Amino acid sequence: MNAAATSMPPSLAVAGLRISAGGKVLVPGLSLTIGRGEIVGMVGASGSGKTISAFSLARLLPDTLTQSGEISLEGERIDRLSESEMRKVRGGRIGMVFQDPLSSFNPLRTVGSILVESICRHQRLPARQARELAIDTLATMRLPGRKASVDAYPHMLSGGQRQRAMIGLALVNRPALIIADEPTTALDPTIQLQILALLRHQASSAACLFITHDIGAASAICDRLAVMNEGEIVEEGPTDRLLASPTHPFTRELLSHAPGGARFR
Ligand SMILES: Nc1ncnc2c1ncn2[C@@H]1O[C@H](COP(=O)(O)OP(=O)(O)OP(=O)(O)O)[C@@H](O)[C@H]1O
Ligand SMILES: [Mg+2]
Repeated sequence: MNAAATSMPPSLAVAGLRISAGGKVLVPGLSLTIGRGEIVGMVGASGSGKTISAFSLARLLPDTLTQSGEISLEGERIDRLSESEMRKVRGGRIGMVFQDPLSSFNPLRTVGSILVESICRHQRLPARQARELAIDTLATMRLPGRKASVDAYPHMLSGGQRQRAMIGLALVNRPALIIADEPTTALDPTIQLQILALLRHQASSAACLFITHDIGAASAICDRLAVMNEGEIVEEGPTDRLLASPTHPFTRELLSHAPGGARFR
């Protein structure tokens, strides 16, 4: 690594993130750093705080939840930005992929028009160029028939195709950070694997927080794993090390319940 690279701030740095619901503390103080090009898998039991932590990074928590703590994106404190400034960050410097793209895509609009709008807003390209980029992006995501996919409505695509379109939308503005919350859980295992491989390949320069229940999926694409339990990261480390010799009892328990284990490696 050269001197310029080492002096660059991490893509994401979170320090002392705290999330509460009324008087109840759900996440007491989470700290996490993700470097450029790095994929960190957040694993843990249902209800351990993975989704609320991820949503809080993009400041997307519902009003009933409050958050505090430092969130820096490429060295800039985004926790201090106003809501209108945050709107420019979401979809631009932060791309998001959720479990169910049907509920994230507007059913009344073509996939292409959703991409074009996002490209025009964040990259300020003229419509014609934005459409070319949308077509190229969907082709890169291996959606069939260049023009056919761009003019398709979300319901016309299969679950796997929709998820690939969603990843295309998350990546099209070359974000610094991608947040993927259970992006492939609803899909069958072969399609899951293809989509994860695509995400790994296409997101090569972004930092990625990949949330999953599936240790096998996490082991397939993650450089590091962070194990969540009751709102806290109880163990964190390089994927191979953590899978080979987990130290925290909760990690051991989680691995013992993963029948496929590290099946993709
Ligand atoms: N809007 C809300 N108001 C109050 N509590 C909430 C709210 N959303 C989530 N919680 C609570 O926060 C905790 C963490 O929820 P979260 O959805 O982050 O879990 P998770 O780790 O993503 O689980 P899963 O693996 O099932 O998706 C849970 O105890 C949940 O009940
Ligand atoms: Mg969740």
